[in-house]
Amino acid sequence: MTTRPRQPAPGTPAPGKLALTELAELKARRQPIAMITAYDAPSGRLADAAGADVILVGDSAAMTVLGHDSTVPATMDEMIVLTRAVNRGARRPLVVADMPFGSFQVSDEAALENAIRFVKESGADAVKVEGAGPTLSRVRALVGAGVPTMGHIGLTPQSATMLGGFKAQGRTAEKARRLYEDALALAAAGAFALVLEAVPAPVAARITEALSIPTIGIGAGAACDGQVLVWHDLLGLYDGSSPRFVKQYADLATVIGSAVSRYVEDVRARSFPEERHTYSMPEEELALFEAALEDHREVRERR
Ligand code: KIV
Repeated sequence: MTTRPRQPAPGTPAPGKLALTELAELKARRQPIAMITAYDAPSGRLADAAGADVILVGDSAAMTVLGHDSTVPATMDEMIVLTRAVNRGARRPLVVADMPFGSFQVSDEAALENAIRFVKESGADAVKVEGAGPTLSRVRALVGAGVPTMGHIGLTPQSATMLGGFKAQGRTAEKARRLYEDALALAAAGAFALVLEAVPAPVAARITEALSIPTIGIGAGAACDGQVLVWHDLLGLYDGSSPRFVKQYADLATVIGSAVSRYVEDVRARSFPEERHTYSMPEEELALFEAALEDHREVRERR
């Protein structure tokens, strides 16, 4: 078990934490940035140990861990609990909290209040907001107040209904041009990085070339400065259909299912627990305990 250093002063990066500025330097050196989602302390710890640069506590949690059909129901309180847990597990990676639907759409003020909650209550290093248009003013407000902010365009799950479902974006020249302009506007507003989700690879490549901030692709091709995948998709833990851009690196649902079935069988067969899983006590203490029970029984029988 490792011990954690004392909590640093607010706004001070914890010792060993990747500097936010390092992301742009990785882009400049053409070193790919590895980002992954996580939702609890063990996944935060494992992502850190595996060398991830950025951990996104995505509002995908609504689907992957809270069992909803979309990301929309995620609340600030839920996201704060999850982000705080991830932060307890992860030390080096930057921990980015995803601002859930309703936490930033209403006004710059509400966005700032919620972003500050993430920083103060969960120790998030940065936040992420979906969209462009009205989101640009939110990014300016958050960055102006000192909260590092990541943008997210293309397929933005919080507005999937408006986009006509979970499908690729920017597949016509006009839509691609709009995405390109949104990307430039988000960078000009102060975003430190940009997620490009389900965007044709040549469009993502042009956006990546045009920006000095890194692009992080998910279904946006290999030219992006980094990639992100959802923890449950990568590990085969999500009980639903995954988009074509997912690469599944393990089938943990099968591993977990078989382990739990063997446990249930062992319990039913009384083959668990074994001697080595149980505690003993000194013989003489056991004899005294049995004698006390005997006295107890006699007293009850006399009543
Ligand atoms: O919520 C999430 O996990 C995300 C990623 C897909 C980028 O926004």
